[in-house]
Amino acid sequence: MTGPVVEARGLTRRFGAKTAVDALDLSIEPGVIYGFLGPNGCGKTTAMRLLTGLLTPSAGTARVLGTELPGKAEPLKRKIGYMTQSFSHYRDLTVAENMGFTAAVYGLRGRKARDRIGALSEEYGLADLRGQMAGSLSGGQKQRLALALAVMHRPQLLFLDEPTSAVDPESRRGFWEKLFDLVAEGASIVVSTHFMDEAERCHRLAILDRGRKRADGTPQDLMDALGATVLEVEGPDLRAARRRLGAGPDKRCRSGGGRDGIGPVRAAMRPPVQARSPWPATSAILRFRAIALVLISAVPEPIPPRRSAWNAFSPSRRS
Ligand SMILES: Nc1ncnc2c1ncn2[C@@H]1O[C@H](COP(=O)(O)OP(=O)(O)OP(=O)(O)O)[C@@H](O)[C@H]1O
Ligand SMILES: [Mg+2]
Repeated sequence: MTGPVVEARGLTRRFGAKTAVDALDLSIEPGVIYGFLGPNGCGKTTAMRLLTGLLTPSAGTARVLGTELPGKAEPLKRKIGYMTQSFSHYRDLTVAENMGFTAAVYGLRGRKARDRIGALSEEYGLADLRGQMAGSLSGGQKQRLALALAVMHRPQLLFLDEPTSAVDPESRRGFWEKLFDLVAEGASIVVSTHFMDEAERCHRLAILDRGRKRADGTPQDLMDALGATVLEVEGPDLRAARRRLGAGPDKRCRSGGGRDGIGPVRAAMRPPVQARSPWPATSAILRFRAIALVLISAVPEPIPPRRSAWNAFSPSRRS
């Protein structure tokens, strides 16, 4: 397919007085992983439901894989996969039964269905869980099953709503390897996340805040637009480190000058600031909290370069 897989113009959804998605413009090219990043309630799920045709917009339009929305979304549903934020498959069916059911829904039968289910079971580590009730799977196992079910029919476009919220850091890396594999096979992916390390891995990102898109671009574009030096802060006591750095509630640190802003921050730290990648697990939470807030609060009003530093991260793609 040529042209964008998703185009939205002024897409808006109100619930009573609440505007969950507010005049959203989007253009998503094929073959990319496109991220929605933003805090709870900013409209990520609502935007996905609008783009999958599950929810009718209050205003605006979208074109998804050539299907005009609002409009008849049935043909679209065969071409997309949607992994919902909470597990939405049959908890009282086994893994194998869920897979068989989903295959049948998409018209896969007999040998074709068996082959596809077998391949997905291997690929997503579900082979040993085939006889287990889906409702009794661990959070990470449920998410693997949900992804396997979402890709059963080899959709061109996948919507994944916080797909790794219950997945440990190691498994999250594996999960993202799967997403890169799917893109290499020709799929396009829209994924929502709270995790900064995941946001960094997206080819492009939209930052949502109270229903509005505040910025979009590549992760590097967005970091550049901050006009600030972004640092990874690592240390045994990160709370104390933040106090020493004088970070305010938005985690902004005053560096007090310096060519790149790093020197003064380094001087303020005992032990000193280090920039390195990939992240050690101990600092991931600080990074996530810091950068999620930093990006969202900073984008409308970038800070002048070289006047501030942020206790944040050094980007790493595909660690
Ligand atoms: N069916 C609904 N009725 C009323 N309000 C709704 C409905 N769905 C969503 N909202 C409201 O719209 C806003 C956006 O919700 P949405 O679920 O899209 O956010 P989100 O970014 O996915 O949040 P989270 O990160 O917590 O999943 C929230 O304020 C929510 O309360
Ligand atoms: Mg949500």
